[in-house]
Amino acid sequence: MINDITYLGKIIRVDSNTVEVEVSNDIPSAAPIIKGRLYKIGQIGTFIKIPIGNISIYGVVSSVSNTPDKAEEFQIKYNFGSRFLTVQLVGEKIGEDDFEKGIGTYPTINDEVHLVIEKDLFDIYGKKDLGSIEIGKHSSSENLSVYADIHKLILRHCAILGSTGSGKSNTTVSILKAILNDYQGSRVVLVDPHGEYVSAFPDAKVFKINDCKNPLFIPFWLMNFDELAYFLVGAIPKDDQKPDYRLLRELVVNLKKSNCQLKAGLVNQDFVTADSPIPFSARKLWHEMNWWLNASFSTTKKDEQTKDTAILENEGEFQNITAARFTSHLSTDNTKPPYKSQHQEYYSYEKKVLSRLRDSRFDFLFNPGDFTGAENANDLNDLLNKWIGSENKLAILDLSGVPFEVLDITVGLITRFIYDSMFWGRNESYTGKQRPLLLAYEEAHTYLNKNDNTSYSKLAVEQVFKEGRKFGLGALVISQRPSEISETILAQVGTFIALRLTNSGDQNIVKSSAPDNLNSLINLLPSLRTGEAIIVGEAIKIPSRVRITLNNPRPTSDDPKLIDGWKIQHPEHADNYKTVVTRIRQQKF
Ligand SMILES: Nc1ncnc2c1ncn2[C@@H]1O[C@H](COP(=O)(O)OP(=O)(O)OP(=O)(O)O)[C@@H](O)[C@H]1O
Ligand SMILES: [Mg+2]
Repeated sequence: MINDITYLGKIIRVDSNTVEVEVSNDIPSAAPIIKGRLYKIGQIGTFIKIPIGNISIYGVVSSVSNTPDKAEEFQIKYNFGSRFLTVQLVGEKIGEDDFEKGIGTYPTINDEVHLVIEKDLFDIYGKKDLGSIEIGKHSSSENLSVYADIHKLILRHCAILGSTGSGKSNTTVSILKAILNDYQGSRVVLVDPHGEYVSAFPDAKVFKINDCKNPLFIPFWLMNFDELAYFLVGAIPKDDQKPDYRLLRELVVNLKKSNCQLKAGLVNQDFVTADSPIPFSARKLWHEMNWWLNASFSTTKKDEQTKDTAILENEGEFQNITAARFTSHLSTDNTKPPYKSQHQEYYSYEKKVLSRLRDSRFDFLFNPGDFTGAENANDLNDLLNKWIGSENKLAILDLSGVPFEVLDITVGLITRFIYDSMFWGRNESYTGKQRPLLLAYEEAHTYLNKNDNTSYSKLAVEQVFKEGRKFGLGALVISQRPSEISETILAQVGTFIALRLTNSGDQNIVKSSAPDNLNSLINLLPSLRTGEAIIVGEAIKIPSRVRITLNNPRPTSDDPKLIDGWKIQHPEHADNYKTVVTRIRQQKF
Protein backbone atom coordinates (compact mmCIF):
# COMPACT_ATOMS: atom_id res chain seq x y z
CA MET A 1 0.00 0.00 0.00
CA ILE A 2 2.92 2.30 0.82
CA ASN A 3 3.87 2.11 -2.82
CA ASP A 4 0.40 3.09 -3.98
CA ILE A 5 0.33 6.31 -5.89
CA THR A 6 -2.36 7.53 -3.45
CA TYR A 7 -0.15 6.97 -0.36
CA LEU A 8 0.14 10.14 1.65
CA GLY A 9 1.73 9.30 5.01
CA LYS A 10 0.94 7.90 8.44
CA ILE A 11 -0.95 8.84 11.56
CA ILE A 12 1.13 10.20 14.42
CA ARG A 13 -1.61 11.32 16.83
CA VAL A 14 -5.27 10.48 17.44
CA ASP A 15 -7.36 12.79 19.57
CA SER A 16 -11.07 11.79 19.52
CA ASN A 17 -12.27 12.82 16.05
CA THR A 18 -9.07 14.66 15.13
CA VAL A 19 -6.00 12.89 13.79
CA GLU A 20 -2.58 14.20 12.83
CA VAL A 21 -0.90 12.91 9.69
CA GLU A 22 2.78 13.13 8.85
CA VAL A 23 3.05 13.45 5.11
CA SER A 24 5.73 11.08 3.82
CA ASN A 25 8.92 12.68 2.51
CA ASP A 26 9.13 9.89 -0.06
CA ILE A 27 6.09 10.73 -2.10
CA PRO A 28 7.29 11.83 -5.49
CA SER A 29 5.15 14.93 -5.95
CA ALA A 30 3.15 17.41 -3.92
CA ALA A 31 0.62 17.37 -6.73
CA PRO A 32 0.41 13.84 -8.18
CA ILE A 33 -1.54 13.16 -11.36
CA ILE A 34 -3.75 10.09 -10.93
CA LYS A 35 -5.81 8.80 -13.86
CA GLY A 36 -5.35 12.10 -15.66
CA ARG A 37 -6.46 14.26 -12.69
CA LEU A 38 -4.22 16.53 -10.67
CA TYR A 39 -4.52 16.24 -6.87
CA LYS A 40 -2.99 18.81 -4.55
CA ILE A 41 -1.83 17.35 -1.27
CA GLY A 42 -2.78 19.16 1.89
CA GLN A 43 -5.47 21.48 0.54
CA ILE A 44 -7.75 22.65 3.33
CA GLY A 45 -11.19 21.15 2.94
CA THR A 46 -10.06 18.14 0.86
CA PHE A 47 -10.67 14.56 1.94
CA ILE A 48 -8.25 11.83 3.00
CA LYS A 49 -8.86 8.10 3.48
CA ILE A 50 -7.59 5.72 6.17
CA PRO A 51 -8.02 2.10 5.01
CA ILE A 52 -8.17 -0.44 7.89
CA GLY A 53 -9.00 -3.91 6.59
CA ASN A 54 -12.30 -3.66 4.75
CA ILE A 55 -13.16 -0.37 6.47
CA SER A 56 -12.27 3.02 5.00
CA ILE A 57 -12.40 5.96 7.36
CA TYR A 58 -12.72 9.38 5.76
CA GLY A 59 -11.63 12.76 7.06
CA VAL A 60 -11.35 16.41 6.03
CA VAL A 61 -8.04 18.31 6.12
CA SER A 62 -8.42 21.24 8.49
CA SER A 63 -4.87 22.58 8.79
CA VAL A 64 -1.36 22.11 7.39
CA SER A 65 1.86 22.85 9.24
CA ASN A 66 5.59 22.12 9.30
CA THR A 67 5.45 21.04 12.97
CA PRO A 68 2.90 18.67 14.45
CA ASP A 69 0.13 20.16 16.53
CA LYS A 70 0.78 19.70 20.29
CA ALA A 71 4.24 18.22 19.45
CA GLU A 72 5.69 19.02 22.87
CA GLU A 73 2.66 18.06 24.91
CA PHE A 74 2.51 14.61 23.31
CA GLN A 75 6.31 14.35 22.91
CA ILE A 76 5.89 13.55 19.26
CA LYS A 77 9.13 12.74 17.40
CA TYR A 78 9.12 14.00 13.90
CA ASN A 79 11.40 14.36 10.94
CA PHE A 80 12.62 17.85 10.25
CA GLY A 81 11.23 19.10 6.94
CA SER A 82 8.05 16.97 7.08
CA ARG A 83 4.59 18.39 6.61
CA PHE A 84 1.74 17.67 8.96
CA LEU A 85 -1.98 17.63 8.32
CA THR A 86 -4.65 17.96 10.98
CA VAL A 87 -7.66 15.97 9.85
CA GLN A 88 -11.18 15.79 11.22
CA LEU A 89 -12.76 12.38 10.82
CA VAL A 90 -16.26 12.48 9.37
CA GLY A 91 -17.45 9.01 8.42
CA GLU A 92 -16.67 5.50 7.26
CA LYS A 93 -17.50 2.95 4.60
CA ILE A 94 -17.57 -0.73 5.53
CA GLY A 95 -16.97 -3.14 2.64
CA GLU A 96 -19.50 -2.59 -0.11
CA ASP A 97 -21.97 -0.77 2.16
CA ASP A 98 -22.81 2.87 1.55
CA PHE A 99 -20.73 5.58 3.19
CA GLU A 100 -22.10 6.51 6.62
CA LYS A 101 -21.53 9.58 8.73
CA GLY A 102 -19.92 9.02 12.14
CA ILE A 103 -17.00 6.86 13.23
CA GLY A 104 -17.33 3.35 14.64
CA THR A 105 -13.72 2.20 14.33
CA TYR A 106 -10.97 4.64 15.21
CA PRO A 107 -7.57 4.59 13.49
CA THR A 108 -4.39 4.40 15.50
CA ILE A 109 -0.73 5.47 15.33
CA ASN A 110 1.11 4.52 12.15
CA ASP A 111 -2.07 3.66 10.21
CA GLU A 112 -1.66 4.55 6.56
CA VAL A 113 -3.33 7.60 5.10
CA HIS A 114 -4.24 7.92 1.43
CA LEU A 115 -5.39 10.59 -0.94
CA VAL A 116 -9.05 10.46 -1.86
CA ILE A 117 -9.38 10.14 -5.61
CA GLU A 118 -12.44 10.73 -7.76
CA LYS A 119 -13.57 7.10 -7.54
CA ASP A 120 -13.66 7.31 -3.72
CA LEU A 121 -15.71 10.46 -3.94
CA PHE A 122 -18.21 8.72 -6.21
CA ASP A 123 -18.39 5.95 -3.59
CA ILE A 124 -19.09 8.49 -0.85
CA TYR A 125 -21.68 10.56 -2.66
CA GLY A 126 -23.36 7.54 -4.23
CA LYS A 127 -26.05 7.72 -6.84
CA LYS A 128 -29.23 9.69 -6.94
CA ASP A 129 -32.10 7.73 -5.48
CA LEU A 130 -35.77 8.24 -4.70
CA GLY A 131 -35.03 10.07 -1.48
CA SER A 132 -32.49 12.57 -2.76
CA ILE A 133 -32.18 15.68 -4.90
CA GLU A 134 -29.11 16.98 -6.66
CA ILE A 135 -27.94 20.13 -4.95
CA GLY A 136 -24.91 20.97 -7.12
CA LYS A 137 -21.52 19.70 -8.22
CA HIS A 138 -18.57 19.03 -5.96
CA SER A 139 -16.11 21.94 -6.09
CA SER A 140 -13.23 19.61 -6.90
CA SER A 141 -14.95 17.86 -9.80
CA GLU A 142 -17.45 19.00 -12.39
CA ASN A 143 -18.63 15.39 -12.83
CA LEU A 144 -19.39 14.71 -9.24
CA SER A 145 -22.97 15.45 -8.22
CA VAL A 146 -23.73 16.16 -4.60
CA TYR A 147 -27.08 14.90 -3.33
CA ALA A 148 -29.11 15.89 -0.32
CA ASP A 149 -31.48 13.63 1.56
CA ILE A 150 -34.77 15.38 0.82
CA HIS A 151 -36.57 14.10 3.92
CA LYS A 152 -33.93 15.52 6.26
CA LEU A 153 -33.42 18.67 4.23
CA ILE A 154 -37.09 19.61 4.52
CA LEU A 155 -38.36 18.20 7.79
CA ARG A 156 -35.22 18.87 9.84
CA HIS A 157 -35.21 22.38 8.37
CA CYS A 158 -32.52 24.15 6.42
CA ALA A 159 -30.80 27.55 6.19
CA ILE A 160 -29.18 29.23 3.19
CA LEU A 161 -26.79 31.88 4.47
CA GLY A 162 -24.37 34.21 2.71
CA SER A 163 -23.36 37.83 2.21
CA THR A 164 -25.23 39.89 -0.33
CA GLY A 165 -24.50 38.75 -3.87
CA SER A 166 -23.03 35.42 -2.78
CA GLY A 167 -25.72 33.42 -4.61
CA LYS A 168 -28.42 32.67 -2.02
CA SER A 169 -31.39 33.34 -4.27
CA ASN A 170 -29.87 31.24 -7.03
CA THR A 171 -29.27 28.40 -4.56
CA THR A 172 -32.88 28.64 -3.40
CA VAL A 173 -34.06 28.38 -7.00
CA SER A 174 -31.81 25.33 -7.58
CA ILE A 175 -33.17 23.51 -4.56
CA LEU A 176 -36.81 24.36 -5.18
CA LYS A 177 -36.53 23.43 -8.87
CA ALA A 178 -34.99 20.06 -7.99
CA ILE A 179 -37.86 19.40 -5.56
CA LEU A 180 -40.61 20.51 -7.94
CA ASN A 181 -39.19 18.57 -10.89
CA ASP A 182 -38.63 15.35 -8.98
CA TYR A 183 -41.77 15.19 -6.85
CA GLN A 184 -45.20 15.54 -8.38
CA GLY A 185 -47.00 15.89 -5.07
CA SER A 186 -44.52 18.28 -3.47
CA ARG A 187 -45.65 21.65 -2.20
CA VAL A 188 -43.79 24.74 -1.25
CA VAL A 189 -44.89 28.18 -0.07
CA LEU A 190 -42.24 30.81 -0.70
CA VAL A 191 -42.46 34.05 1.28
CA ASP A 192 -40.84 36.54 -1.05
CA PRO A 193 -40.60 40.08 0.43
CA HIS A 194 -39.03 41.63 -2.70
CA GLY A 195 -41.01 39.75 -5.35
CA GLU A 196 -37.80 38.53 -6.99
CA TYR A 197 -38.66 34.85 -7.56
CA VAL A 198 -41.58 35.30 -9.96
CA SER A 199 -39.25 35.42 -12.97
CA ALA A 200 -37.46 32.21 -11.94
CA PHE A 201 -40.64 30.13 -11.67
CA PRO A 202 -42.93 30.86 -14.62
CA ASP A 203 -45.24 27.96 -13.62
CA ALA A 204 -45.71 28.95 -9.99
CA LYS A 205 -48.91 30.44 -8.66
CA VAL A 206 -48.03 33.96 -7.59
CA PHE A 207 -50.14 35.95 -5.12
CA LYS A 208 -49.53 39.66 -5.05
CA ILE A 209 -51.35 42.70 -3.69
CA ASN A 210 -53.54 44.31 -6.38
CA ASP A 211 -52.74 41.58 -8.91
CA CYS A 212 -55.70 41.07 -11.26
CA LYS A 213 -55.27 37.30 -11.58
CA ASN A 214 -54.30 36.21 -8.08
CA PRO A 215 -54.60 39.11 -5.65
CA LEU A 216 -53.02 38.50 -2.26
CA PHE A 217 -55.59 38.71 0.52
CA ILE A 218 -54.86 38.00 4.14
CA PRO A 219 -58.09 38.53 6.08
CA PHE A 220 -57.32 40.71 9.10
CA TRP A 221 -59.63 38.59 11.26
CA LEU A 222 -57.02 35.82 11.13
CA MET A 223 -55.14 37.90 13.72
CA ASN A 224 -55.51 36.91 17.33
CA PHE A 225 -56.72 39.67 19.61
CA ASP A 226 -53.27 40.86 20.73
CA GLU A 227 -52.14 41.21 17.12
CA LEU A 228 -55.35 42.93 16.11
CA ALA A 229 -55.25 45.41 18.99
CA TYR A 230 -51.63 46.23 18.25
CA PHE A 231 -52.27 46.64 14.56
CA LEU A 232 -55.49 48.65 14.86
CA VAL A 233 -54.78 50.93 17.78
CA GLY A 234 -51.19 50.26 18.83
CA ALA A 235 -52.30 48.64 22.12
CA ILE A 236 -50.12 45.99 23.72
CA PRO A 237 -51.22 43.12 26.00
CA LYS A 238 -50.06 45.15 29.04
CA ASP A 239 -52.99 47.51 28.35
CA ASP A 240 -55.25 44.66 29.41
CA GLN A 241 -56.33 46.56 32.52
CA LYS A 242 -57.50 49.65 30.64
CA PRO A 243 -61.29 49.89 30.11
CA ASP A 244 -60.96 50.83 26.44
CA TYR A 245 -58.86 47.70 25.78
CA ARG A 246 -61.42 45.49 27.51
CA LEU A 247 -64.28 47.12 25.63
CA LEU A 248 -62.50 46.59 22.34
CA ARG A 249 -62.13 42.91 23.17
CA GLU A 250 -65.84 42.69 24.04
CA LEU A 251 -66.82 44.39 20.80
CA VAL A 252 -64.68 42.01 18.75
CA VAL A 253 -66.07 38.92 20.52
CA ASN A 254 -69.65 40.11 19.92
CA LEU A 255 -69.01 40.82 16.25
CA LYS A 256 -67.45 37.37 15.84
CA LYS A 257 -70.24 35.64 17.73
CA SER A 258 -72.84 37.18 15.46
CA ASN A 259 -71.14 35.60 12.43
CA CYS A 260 -70.79 31.91 13.28
CA GLN A 261 -72.76 30.48 10.37
CA LEU A 262 -69.89 30.07 7.94
CA LYS A 263 -69.32 28.36 4.62
CA ALA A 264 -66.68 26.06 6.13
CA GLY A 265 -69.16 25.03 8.83
CA LEU A 266 -71.16 26.20 11.81
CA VAL A 267 -69.10 27.19 14.84
CA ASN A 268 -70.63 26.88 18.30
CA GLN A 269 -70.96 30.41 19.72
CA ASP A 270 -69.85 29.19 23.14
CA PHE A 271 -66.39 28.40 21.77
CA VAL A 272 -65.88 31.78 20.09
CA THR A 273 -63.25 34.02 21.66
CA ALA A 274 -61.59 37.25 20.56
CA ASP A 275 -58.83 35.07 19.07
CA SER A 276 -61.08 32.83 16.90
CA PRO A 277 -60.46 33.27 13.16
CA ILE A 278 -64.06 34.23 12.43
CA PRO A 279 -64.84 36.94 9.89
CA PHE A 280 -66.22 40.29 10.89
CA SER A 281 -66.17 43.76 9.41
CA ALA A 282 -63.56 46.21 10.71
CA ARG A 283 -65.80 48.96 9.36
CA LYS A 284 -68.64 47.73 11.56
CA LEU A 285 -66.24 47.78 14.50
CA TRP A 286 -65.39 51.41 13.81
CA HIS A 287 -69.07 52.30 13.21
CA GLU A 288 -70.00 50.85 16.57
CA MET A 289 -67.26 52.76 18.38
CA ASN A 290 -68.22 55.96 16.63
CA TRP A 291 -71.92 55.38 17.46
CA TRP A 292 -71.31 55.22 21.22
CA LEU A 293 -68.95 58.18 21.19
CA ASN A 294 -71.21 60.57 19.26
CA ALA A 295 -74.68 59.47 20.26
CA SER A 296 -77.13 61.79 22.02
CA PHE A 297 -79.48 60.32 24.60
CA SER A 298 -82.70 61.14 26.36
CA THR A 299 -81.02 60.54 29.71
CA THR A 300 -77.79 61.63 31.36
CA LYS A 301 -77.32 58.40 33.35
CA LYS A 302 -74.58 56.34 31.74
CA ASP A 303 -76.13 52.93 32.37
CA GLU A 304 -79.44 54.13 30.93
CA GLN A 305 -77.73 55.46 27.79
CA THR A 306 -78.53 52.48 25.58
CA LYS A 307 -79.47 51.95 21.94
CA ASP A 308 -83.12 52.42 22.97
CA THR A 309 -82.60 55.81 24.61
CA ALA A 310 -80.47 57.25 21.79
CA ILE A 311 -81.89 60.12 19.76
CA LEU A 312 -80.88 58.88 16.35
CA GLU A 313 -81.43 60.77 13.11
CA ASN A 314 -79.65 58.53 10.63
CA GLU A 315 -78.02 55.08 11.09
CA GLY A 316 -75.21 55.96 8.66
CA GLU A 317 -73.57 53.25 6.55
CA PHE A 318 -70.72 51.23 7.98
CA GLN A 319 -69.77 49.86 4.53
CA ASN A 320 -69.04 53.40 3.28
CA ILE A 321 -67.50 54.48 6.57
CA THR A 322 -70.36 56.94 7.17
CA ALA A 323 -71.07 57.68 10.81
CA ALA A 324 -74.54 57.58 12.37
CA ARG A 325 -76.12 61.02 12.98
CA PHE A 326 -77.85 62.08 16.18
CA THR A 327 -79.82 65.10 17.21
CA SER A 328 -77.21 67.40 18.54
CA HIS A 329 -76.98 67.79 22.30
CA LEU A 330 -77.14 71.30 23.64
CA SER A 331 -73.93 72.06 25.40
CA THR A 332 -75.30 75.20 27.08
CA ASP A 333 -78.50 73.67 28.42
CA ASN A 334 -77.90 70.58 30.52
CA THR A 335 -81.44 70.48 31.92
CA LYS A 336 -83.26 68.91 28.97
CA PRO A 337 -82.45 66.32 26.30
CA PRO A 338 -80.68 65.48 24.08
CA TYR A 339 -77.79 64.71 26.42
CA LYS A 340 -74.17 64.10 25.54
CA SER A 341 -72.91 60.51 25.44
CA GLN A 342 -71.18 59.33 28.62
CA HIS A 343 -69.53 56.50 26.63
CA GLN A 344 -66.19 58.15 25.95
CA GLU A 345 -64.14 54.96 26.44
CA TYR A 346 -63.48 54.57 22.74
CA TYR A 347 -62.19 58.13 22.42
CA SER A 348 -58.53 57.29 21.83
CA TYR A 349 -59.19 54.21 19.67
CA GLU A 350 -61.90 55.38 17.27
CA LYS A 351 -59.69 57.78 15.28
CA LYS A 352 -56.87 55.24 15.06
CA VAL A 353 -59.18 52.55 13.66
CA LEU A 354 -60.59 55.05 11.16
CA SER A 355 -57.16 56.06 9.90
CA ARG A 356 -56.22 52.38 9.41
CA LEU A 357 -59.44 51.78 7.43
CA ARG A 358 -58.82 54.79 5.21
CA ASP A 359 -55.25 53.78 4.38
CA SER A 360 -55.50 51.94 1.05
CA ARG A 361 -52.20 50.11 1.71
CA PHE A 362 -54.06 47.94 4.19
CA ASP A 363 -56.84 46.95 1.79
CA PHE A 364 -55.38 43.46 1.39
CA LEU A 365 -56.13 42.93 5.08
CA PHE A 366 -59.40 44.85 5.58
CA ASN A 367 -61.11 44.13 2.28
CA PRO A 368 -60.19 40.50 1.69
CA GLY A 369 -62.18 40.21 -1.56
CA ASP A 370 -64.96 37.71 -1.15
CA PHE A 371 -63.24 35.88 1.70
CA THR A 372 -66.08 36.80 3.98
CA GLY A 373 -67.05 33.31 5.04
CA ALA A 374 -70.63 33.91 3.91
CA GLU A 375 -72.44 31.03 2.26
CA ASN A 376 -72.15 32.30 -1.30
CA ALA A 377 -68.65 33.75 -0.82
CA ASN A 378 -65.28 32.23 0.03
CA ASP A 379 -64.05 31.01 3.39
CA LEU A 380 -60.63 30.12 4.75
CA ASN A 381 -60.75 26.64 3.19
CA ASP A 382 -60.83 28.35 -0.23
CA LEU A 383 -57.84 30.47 0.74
CA LEU A 384 -55.93 27.34 1.79
CA ASN A 385 -56.94 25.59 -1.41
CA LYS A 386 -55.57 28.50 -3.41
CA TRP A 387 -52.29 28.64 -1.52
CA ILE A 388 -51.51 25.00 -0.84
CA GLY A 389 -54.23 23.08 -2.68
CA SER A 390 -53.47 20.03 -4.74
CA GLU A 391 -52.60 21.54 -8.11
CA ASN A 392 -50.01 24.07 -6.99
CA LYS A 393 -46.65 22.68 -6.23
CA LEU A 394 -45.24 26.14 -5.60
CA ALA A 395 -47.08 29.20 -4.31
CA ILE A 396 -45.10 32.44 -4.18
CA LEU A 397 -46.48 34.98 -1.74
CA ASP A 398 -45.05 38.17 -3.22
CA LEU A 399 -45.02 40.61 -0.31
CA SER A 400 -43.36 43.45 -2.21
CA GLY A 401 -46.48 45.63 -1.83
CA VAL A 402 -46.88 44.97 1.88
CA PRO A 403 -46.10 48.11 3.94
CA PHE A 404 -42.98 47.56 6.04
CA GLU A 405 -44.81 48.24 9.30
CA VAL A 406 -47.14 45.26 8.74
CA LEU A 407 -44.62 42.88 7.15
CA ASP A 408 -44.03 41.24 10.53
CA ILE A 409 -47.72 40.64 11.24
CA THR A 410 -48.31 39.51 7.65
CA VAL A 411 -45.57 36.86 7.75
CA GLY A 412 -46.78 35.85 11.21
CA LEU A 413 -50.36 35.41 9.96
CA ILE A 414 -49.34 33.40 6.91
CA THR A 415 -47.14 31.15 9.02
CA ARG A 416 -49.63 30.59 11.81
CA PHE A 417 -52.48 29.94 9.40
CA ILE A 418 -50.48 27.34 7.47
CA TYR A 419 -49.16 25.83 10.71
CA ASP A 420 -52.69 25.55 12.13
CA SER A 421 -53.92 23.97 8.90
CA MET A 422 -51.17 21.35 9.10
CA PHE A 423 -51.77 20.76 12.82
CA TRP A 424 -55.55 20.34 12.58
CA GLY A 425 -55.23 18.49 9.27
CA ARG A 426 -52.42 16.24 10.39
CA ASN A 427 -54.39 13.04 9.83
CA GLU A 428 -56.16 14.03 6.61
CA SER A 429 -55.15 12.22 3.43
CA TYR A 430 -54.51 15.42 1.42
CA THR A 431 -52.44 17.44 3.91
CA GLY A 432 -50.54 17.21 7.21
CA LYS A 433 -48.26 14.22 7.56
CA GLN A 434 -49.61 12.67 4.36
CA ARG A 435 -48.53 15.62 2.22
CA PRO A 436 -45.74 17.57 3.90
CA LEU A 437 -45.11 21.19 3.02
CA LEU A 438 -42.04 23.40 2.86
CA LEU A 439 -42.26 27.03 3.99
CA ALA A 440 -39.38 29.12 2.63
CA TYR A 441 -38.57 32.54 4.09
CA GLU A 442 -36.45 34.91 1.98
CA GLU A 443 -34.75 37.90 3.67
CA ALA A 444 -35.49 36.24 7.01
CA HIS A 445 -33.37 38.62 9.11
CA THR A 446 -35.81 41.49 8.41
CA TYR A 447 -38.71 39.86 10.24
CA LEU A 448 -37.14 37.07 12.33
CA ASN A 449 -34.78 39.38 14.18
CA LYS A 450 -33.52 37.97 17.46
CA ASN A 451 -33.54 41.38 19.15
CA ASP A 452 -37.17 42.13 18.35
CA ASN A 453 -39.15 40.93 21.35
CA THR A 454 -42.50 42.03 19.95
CA SER A 455 -42.16 40.19 16.63
CA TYR A 456 -45.22 38.08 15.83
CA SER A 457 -43.64 36.41 12.83
CA LYS A 458 -40.66 35.30 14.91
CA LEU A 459 -42.94 33.52 17.39
CA ALA A 460 -44.88 31.82 14.60
CA VAL A 461 -41.80 30.75 12.64
CA GLU A 462 -40.05 29.53 15.81
CA GLN A 463 -43.05 27.29 16.40
CA VAL A 464 -42.66 25.81 12.90
CA PHE A 465 -38.97 25.14 13.59
CA LYS A 466 -39.71 23.57 16.97
CA GLU A 467 -42.87 21.57 16.26
CA GLY A 468 -43.56 21.61 12.50
CA ARG A 469 -41.82 18.32 11.71
CA LYS A 470 -44.49 16.34 13.59
CA PHE A 471 -47.24 17.61 11.30
CA GLY A 472 -45.28 17.48 8.06
CA LEU A 473 -44.15 21.11 8.04
CA GLY A 474 -40.56 21.94 7.13
CA ALA A 475 -38.91 25.36 6.85
CA LEU A 476 -36.09 27.01 4.97
CA VAL A 477 -34.65 30.38 6.02
CA ILE A 478 -32.60 32.47 3.63
CA SER A 479 -30.59 35.37 5.03
CA GLN A 480 -27.53 37.54 4.61
CA ARG A 481 -27.27 38.29 8.35
CA PRO A 482 -27.35 35.02 10.29
CA SER A 483 -26.11 36.88 13.39
CA GLU A 484 -29.41 38.80 13.48
CA ILE A 485 -31.68 35.76 13.19
CA SER A 486 -33.47 34.23 16.17
CA GLU A 487 -31.19 31.77 17.93
CA THR A 488 -34.10 29.39 18.53
CA ILE A 489 -34.52 29.11 14.78
CA LEU A 490 -30.83 28.55 14.03
CA ALA A 491 -30.57 25.96 16.80
CA GLN A 492 -33.25 23.88 15.07
CA VAL A 493 -31.67 24.04 11.60
CA GLY A 494 -30.50 20.58 10.54
CA THR A 495 -28.68 21.52 7.34
CA PHE A 496 -26.64 24.65 6.70
CA ILE A 497 -25.88 25.80 3.17
CA ALA A 498 -23.34 28.54 3.79
CA LEU A 499 -22.21 30.65 0.86
CA ARG A 500 -19.52 33.33 1.00
CA LEU A 501 -19.79 35.16 4.32
CA THR A 502 -17.44 38.04 4.97
CA ASN A 503 -18.63 39.36 8.31
CA SER A 504 -16.87 37.63 11.18
CA GLY A 505 -19.91 37.84 13.49
CA ASP A 506 -21.97 36.01 10.88
CA GLN A 507 -19.22 33.41 10.38
CA ASN A 508 -19.12 32.75 14.12
CA ILE A 509 -22.85 32.15 14.21
CA VAL A 510 -22.55 29.56 11.46
CA LYS A 511 -19.58 28.01 13.26
CA SER A 512 -21.44 27.71 16.54
CA SER A 513 -24.74 26.58 15.01
CA ALA A 514 -23.49 24.12 12.39
CA PRO A 515 -24.10 20.58 13.59
CA ASP A 516 -20.84 18.95 12.45
CA ASN A 517 -17.78 20.14 14.30
CA LEU A 518 -15.97 21.24 11.18
CA ASN A 519 -14.65 24.70 11.80
CA SER A 520 -11.93 24.22 9.22
CA LEU A 521 -14.51 24.10 6.47
CA ILE A 522 -16.44 27.03 7.92
CA ASN A 523 -13.18 29.01 7.98
CA LEU A 524 -13.28 28.89 4.20
CA LEU A 525 -16.48 30.95 4.09
CA PRO A 526 -14.90 34.35 3.31
CA SER A 527 -12.94 32.92 0.40
CA LEU A 528 -15.72 31.05 -1.40
CA ARG A 529 -16.52 32.00 -4.97
CA THR A 530 -19.97 33.30 -5.93
CA GLY A 531 -22.35 30.33 -6.09
CA GLU A 532 -20.04 28.11 -4.05
CA ALA A 533 -21.27 26.76 -0.72
CA ILE A 534 -20.12 24.76 2.25
CA ILE A 535 -22.90 22.33 3.11
CA VAL A 536 -22.93 20.69 6.51
CA GLY A 537 -25.57 18.86 8.47
CA GLU A 538 -28.09 16.11 8.42
CA ALA A 539 -29.16 16.12 4.78
CA ILE A 540 -25.68 15.69 3.34
CA LYS A 541 -23.56 12.54 3.53
CA ILE A 542 -20.31 14.32 4.15
CA PRO A 543 -19.64 18.02 4.74
CA SER A 544 -18.86 19.36 1.28
CA ARG A 545 -17.78 22.31 -0.74
CA VAL A 546 -20.30 22.52 -3.56
CA ARG A 547 -20.78 24.61 -6.70
CA ILE A 548 -24.39 25.45 -7.30
CA THR A 549 -25.55 25.56 -10.92
CA LEU A 550 -26.46 29.01 -12.22
CA ASN A 551 -30.15 28.82 -13.12
CA ASN A 552 -32.01 30.12 -16.08
CA PRO A 553 -34.48 31.82 -15.85
CA ARG A 554 -33.11 33.56 -12.80
CA PRO A 555 -34.64 35.55 -9.95
CA THR A 556 -34.62 39.28 -10.60
CA SER A 557 -31.78 39.83 -8.20
CA ASP A 558 -28.96 40.16 -10.71
CA ASP A 559 -26.48 42.91 -10.01
CA PRO A 560 -27.38 46.17 -11.84
CA LYS A 561 -25.27 46.82 -14.93
CA LEU A 562 -23.37 49.67 -13.25
CA ILE A 563 -20.75 50.30 -15.91
CA ASP A 564 -23.27 50.32 -18.79
CA GLY A 565 -25.56 52.61 -16.83
CA TRP A 566 -22.83 55.07 -15.91
CA LYS A 567 -21.09 55.14 -19.26
CA ILE A 568 -23.90 56.95 -21.10
CA GLN A 569 -25.30 60.40 -20.41
CA HIS A 570 -28.86 60.64 -19.12
CA PRO A 571 -30.64 63.80 -20.33
CA GLU A 572 -32.63 65.78 -17.78
CA HIS A 573 -36.35 65.90 -18.44
CA ALA A 574 -39.12 67.65 -16.50
CA ASP A 575 -41.36 64.55 -16.65
CA ASN A 576 -38.74 62.30 -15.13
CA TYR A 577 -39.76 60.87 -11.74
CA LYS A 578 -43.48 61.63 -12.20
CA THR A 579 -44.37 57.97 -12.55
CA VAL A 580 -41.92 57.12 -9.79
CA VAL A 581 -43.67 59.44 -7.36
CA THR A 582 -47.08 58.10 -8.41
CA ARG A 583 -45.88 54.58 -7.65
CA ILE A 584 -44.54 55.67 -4.27
CA ARG A 585 -47.98 57.11 -3.53
CA GLN A 586 -49.98 54.15 -4.79
CA GLN A 587 -47.44 51.57 -3.65
CA LYS A 588 -47.98 49.68 -6.88
CA PHE A 589 -46.30 49.26 -10.28
N1 LIG B 1 -23.92 29.47 -8.94
C1 LIG B 1 -23.59 30.62 -9.51
N2 LIG B 1 -22.66 30.66 -10.48
C2 LIG B 1 -22.33 31.83 -11.07
N3 LIG B 1 -22.88 33.02 -10.75
C3 LIG B 1 -23.79 33.07 -9.80
C4 LIG B 1 -24.20 31.86 -9.12
N4 LIG B 1 -25.13 32.19 -8.21
C5 LIG B 1 -25.31 33.53 -8.31
N5 LIG B 1 -24.53 34.05 -9.26
C6 LIG B 1 -24.49 35.48 -9.66
O1 LIG B 1 -24.32 36.26 -8.48
C7 LIG B 1 -25.23 37.35 -8.45
C8 LIG B 1 -26.00 37.39 -7.16
O2 LIG B 1 -26.73 36.18 -6.99
P1 LIG B 1 -27.97 36.07 -6.02
O3 LIG B 1 -28.99 37.07 -6.36
O4 LIG B 1 -28.39 34.65 -5.99
O5 LIG B 1 -27.27 36.50 -4.65
P2 LIG B 1 -27.93 36.72 -3.21
O6 LIG B 1 -26.99 36.11 -2.24
O7 LIG B 1 -29.33 36.20 -3.22
O8 LIG B 1 -27.91 38.28 -3.05
P3 LIG B 1 -28.86 39.21 -2.10
O9 LIG B 1 -28.40 39.04 -0.70
O10 LIG B 1 -28.62 40.57 -2.59
O11 LIG B 1 -30.27 38.74 -2.29
C9 LIG B 1 -26.12 37.20 -9.65
O12 LIG B 1 -25.79 38.23 -10.55
C10 LIG B 1 -25.84 35.86 -10.25
O13 LIG B 1 -25.78 35.96 -11.64
MG1 LIG C 1 -31.18 37.13 -2.82
